[in-house]
Amino acid sequence: MSHILLPVSQLNDQQIAKLARLHQGVLHSLLTDLGLPIVERYYQMACKDSTVIGFCTLSESGQPLGWAIGSPKPDQLNGRLREPLLWIISQMIRVLITRPRVIGQLLTSMRTVSAPLPLGAIELTYLGVEPSVRRQGIGREVLRSFLQAAQDSKYHSVVLSVEAENKDAIALYTMAGFRITETFTEGNFHRNRMELTL
Ligand SMILES: CC(C)(COP(=O)(O)OP(=O)(O)OC[C@H]1O[C@@H](n2cnc3c(N)ncnc32)[C@H](O)[C@@H]1OP(=O)(O)O)[C@@H](O)C(=O)NCCC(=O)NCCS
Repeated sequence: MSHILLPVSQLNDQQIAKLARLHQGVLHSLLTDLGLPIVERYYQMACKDSTVIGFCTLSESGQPLGWAIGSPKPDQLNGRLREPLLWIISQMIRVLITRPRVIGQLLTSMRTVSAPLPLGAIELTYLGVEPSVRRQGIGREVLRSFLQAAQDSKYHSVVLSVEAENKDAIALYTMAGFRITETFTEGNFHRNRMELTL
C-alpha cells in the first residue's frame, strides 16, 4: 500500500479535520471524551504550533492512516483550548448536557498538578493508527519520525504515558527502546509513564 508521511505543519484544514476524526475513533482519552469539536480545535492549534513535533501518514486519497504528535509544553497547549471564552463556554454546556460524567473527569484533571517535564524532554502526547492498516509498520514509521525529529531538535529524552492494559502500544514503545519509569492511577485508569533517552 503506498502512502506518504508529512509533518503535521503541512496538513491542510481538511486533513486536520480528518486527523481529529481518526483521533476520536482510535484513542480513549479525556480529549476524546470532550467530543469532536474540541479534538478538532486541539489539532488546529497543535499543527500550527512551532514547538510541536508531529507526523501523519496519508493514504493516496489523502486519508490520515496514522500519526504521532507531541510537545515540550503539553499543558500550555491544553490551556489554549480554553480560548476563546464564549466558544469554550458553549462547548462545556454541550458536554454537560450530553456527557455530564466527563465534566467531573475534567475538573479532576484540572485539579491534578502534573509534574513539569524533565529538562530537555518532549512529551509524545498522542499516537495512533487506523485499525484496518495496523501491523503494517505505520505505527513504527510515525514513531521513528517523531524520535528522529526530537533528536534533531536537541531534546534529550521523550516521555509518554500509556494505559497499563494497552499491550499493543507498550509493545511498540518497548520495541523503540522506551522503558517504564513509573506506574500511576489517573481516575479509573492505571497508566505507565515511559521514557526514552535520545
Ligand atoms: C499501538 C498502535 C499505534 C500500533 O500501530 P501499528 O501500525 O499496528 O504498529 P506497527 O505495525 O508499526 O508495529 C510495530 C511494532 O509494534 C509492536 N506491536 C504493534 N502492535 C502489536 C500487537 N497488536 N501485538 C504485539 N505487538 C505489537 C510490535 O513489536 C511491532 O513490530 P512487528 O510487527 O515487527 O512485530 C496501534 O495498535 C493503535 O493505533 N492502537 C490504538 C491507539 C493507541 O493505543 N495509541 C497509543 C496510545 S498511548
